[in-house]
Amino acid sequence: MKIPAPPSPPTQRATSGPGSTRPPEKRPAEPVLEVTGLTKRYGDVEALGGFTLSVAPGEIVGLVGHNGAGKTTFVEVVSGLIRADGGTVSVAGHDPHTARHLVGVSPQHLALYPSFTVREHLKLFGGLSGLRRGALSDAVDEVAADLRLTEFLDRPAGFLSGGQQRRAQAGTALIHRPALLLLDEPTAGADPETRQALLDTVRRRADDGAAVVYTTHYLAELTELDATLAVAKRGRVVARGTAAELLTGLPGEVRLTFEDGTEDRRSTDDPTGTLVGMLAGASRPVASVDVRKPDLDDLYRSLAVLDGD
Ligand SMILES: Nc1ncnc2c1ncn2[C@@H]1O[C@H](COP(=O)(O)OP(=O)(O)OP(=O)(O)O)[C@@H](O)[C@H]1O
Ligand SMILES: [Mg+2]
Repeated sequence: MKIPAPPSPPTQRATSGPGSTRPPEKRPAEPVLEVTGLTKRYGDVEALGGFTLSVAPGEIVGLVGHNGAGKTTFVEVVSGLIRADGGTVSVAGHDPHTARHLVGVSPQHLALYPSFTVREHLKLFGGLSGLRRGALSDAVDEVAADLRLTEFLDRPAGFLSGGQQRRAQAGTALIHRPALLLLDEPTAGADPETRQALLDTVRRRADDGAAVVYTTHYLAELTELDATLAVAKRGRVVARGTAAELLTGLPGEVRLTFEDGTEDRRSTDDPTGTLVGMLAGASRPVASVDVRKPDLDDLYRSLAVLDGD
C-alpha cells in the first residue's frame, strides 16, 4: 500500500493546474516530519537545545550522535510520549498528540506487556490505529513474516529473548503502516539475520513512501539503508547530509600489527600512501594490516574540531 504524501498547499499547486500550459514542475515533496527549535530541560540538563529536522516522504534519516546527545528525547517528543518546553512538531501537518496513527515508534527502552503475546501486541497496536478484522490479521501476518516473528507469535513477550523482544517491538511500530516511522536503536542486540530482516523491511517501507528516522551507532546500517545522516550533539542537529557528503575528505586510519603484538596506528586521508610508507619503515615483522575508511567516530571528531571542543 502506498502512503499518500501529505497534501500540498494550494499556492504551490497552481502552477500545473488544468489551465496551465507548463508541464508539471518537479519539486521536492512536502516533509512528513517538520520539527523546529525543540527545547527540553531536565533540571540542569539541557536534553534538547533547539533541535531542528525535517524528513521527506520516502526518506530515511539516520540520526546519530554520542550517548546523551538528545536522540531519544527527540523521538519521545515526536512520538507524543513527553512534551517539549518549546519548539514545534508537525507530522503531515498535524500535532503528533492528535495524530498518533500517523506515527509508528520502536522505543529504545522496550515497552512490551510481559503477559501479552506478540500477536496480542500487534493486534492491540494495529487496532488502536483503526485496523479491523481481515485487514488487521493480514497486517499481523505480513509484519510477522517480514520481521521473522511467526514462530513465536503466540508466546508471551515476557518469555522472549532480548533480540526477539526487540523484533516484536519493531512490529508494533510497523503494523499500521504509519507515514512516519521512528526507530530508536531498533537493531540493538539483534543477531545478523534479524538485523538484515529489519533493514530490508525499513527500506521497503521507505520505498512505499514512509518517512523514517532511524537511530543507530552503526554507520554500516545507514549505508545499507541509503539513509541521509543527521548528527545530533548537545540537543541539536549540527550536521546534515549524505554519508558521502559528510565523510569525504575525513581521515581514516591505517593500522599495522606487528608479530610481537604491538601496533602502529596512523590517521590519514591517503591510506595507500601512508600504508606504503609505514611498511617501508617497519623495522619488525608485520603480522597484519588494517585499513579503515572514515567512520562515525572520525565524523564526530571532525565536528568537535569545528566546534572548538
Ligand atoms: N527523564 C530524564 N530525566 C533526567 N534526565 C534525562 C531524562 N531523559 C534524558 N535525560 C538526559 O538528557 C540527555 C539526552 O538523553 P537522550 O536519552 O535523549 O540521549 P541519546 O542521544 O538518546 O543517547 P544514547 O545514544 O545513549 O541513547 C542525557 O544527558 C540524559 O541523561
Ligand atoms: Mg537514546
